[in-house]
Amino acid sequence: MENRTLIGGQWGDEGKGKVIDALGEGFDWVIRYQGGANAGHTIQIGASEHVVHLIPSGVFREGVRNYLGGGMVIDPWALRDEILELEATGHTVRDRLYISSTAALLMPYHKRFDELYEEQRKRRSIGTTGRGIGPAYQDKLRRTGLRVGDLALPLEKLERIAIEHILEANELLSSLFDAEPLPAKVLAEELVTLAQTLRPMIADGFTVLRGVREGTQSALFEGAQGTLLDIDHGTYPYVTSSNCTVGGALTGTGLPPRCLGDIVGVFKAYCTRVGNGPFPTELLAEEGEHLRELGGEYGATTGRPRRCGWFDLVAARYAVGINGLNGVVITKLDVLDTLPAIQVAEAYDLDGERLVDFPVRLDASQRARPVYKDLPGWEKPTGKARKLSDLPAGARKYLEYLERSLGVLIVGISVGKTRDQMILTPTGVTT
Ligand code: IMP
Repeated sequence: MENRTLIGGQWGDEGKGKVIDALGEGFDWVIRYQGGANAGHTIQIGASEHVVHLIPSGVFREGVRNYLGGGMVIDPWALRDEILELEATGHTVRDRLYISSTAALLMPYHKRFDELYEEQRKRRSIGTTGRGIGPAYQDKLRRTGLRVGDLALPLEKLERIAIEHILEANELLSSLFDAEPLPAKVLAEELVTLAQTLRPMIADGFTVLRGVREGTQSALFEGAQGTLLDIDHGTYPYVTSSNCTVGGALTGTGLPPRCLGDIVGVFKAYCTRVGNGPFPTELLAEEGEHLRELGGEYGATTGRPRRCGWFDLVAARYAVGINGLNGVVITKLDVLDTLPAIQVAEAYDLDGERLVDFPVRLDASQRARPVYKDLPGWEKPTGKARKLSDLPAGARKYLEYLERSLGVLIVGISVGKTRDQMILTPTGVTT
């Protein structure tokens, strides 16, 4: 079976959880490789909706092994809660969850710093999820952070090291922010208890992923967030702190490039963004609110209303190029069903100059104005379509236009929340 890497093509929230779940059947492994509990992957199975933040969406497929890669930042408190919640809804987790010993450990003080840095930035705040992601990666890069592998240390040593780290953080909380200290002993004891729960799942990636490396086991790589939130290639500084683009799958797992298989980008049929930062096709006021209501666009992790706007070909072509996408899945097509007219940005206007490449400089991406193409809506429901020919002609034309403009085959279309509301189009949508 050919491996696959699924990557968010926009600003996250493209519906990757649903696509990974729909395409996840038959893979030996589903692997996450970057980010942490800032992600919120929603999967609808029958009448029940599940959201996972750290655990790969493969957990909803029996028998699939799930791996948390070394490129991630793992909050052990959040991970324990997620395991318990999944078990409470009847899913087996522990015997098929593997956590890389090299992943960074996200501690309660990282969350506190996240909040305080955001407050300090005031109107230039990033609008983070508040899950401590930036500060945890900061400690990783400063080479001072704890790692998942430390949870396997003798418990007394772990407690001692944890107390040292929390006390150091307390000093910074006090000197930088005049903030209250965190209870070092209590948190260190909690961490010791968590370590005992998580230890059996800690794994050495080089060993457990041998089958993937040698090609005897198949893997689906589950990206979190999206291309434009990438720390290096996104709309910096309004980004997350990891590599959400394809390179993250390599550094975040230690697997070689040949293991990635097909690189598939997931795009919504329109655009959304949570948090602050450039969003050239954003619709403001009523138009934006209308799309938000139609799409139920509220953050899966924080519940925040998402900013909404039209599909942006300039940004999407950037994602195609940066990630080397060789397939695209379009999600939430059904959200556009009732609209009489649709717009798509084909280029930007920057101070009177026409741009076709996404401007990565912040000031340029903030000032760029979309140049739209107008397309008719189809004004018919698509939720029951299970093959391309079931779709209204207008919806097919929209997809053909996107496929042509992106220069990459659309290999799947999602027309609703449930697993079966998916049209697979391995040979594309242009007939
Ligand atoms: P952080 O990752 O919590 O530091 O947040 C940085 C930026 O990335 C903020 O704009 C967040 O809203 C955004 N972000 C982080 N995770 C996600 C996600 O899973 N979906 C969409 N946006 C995200």
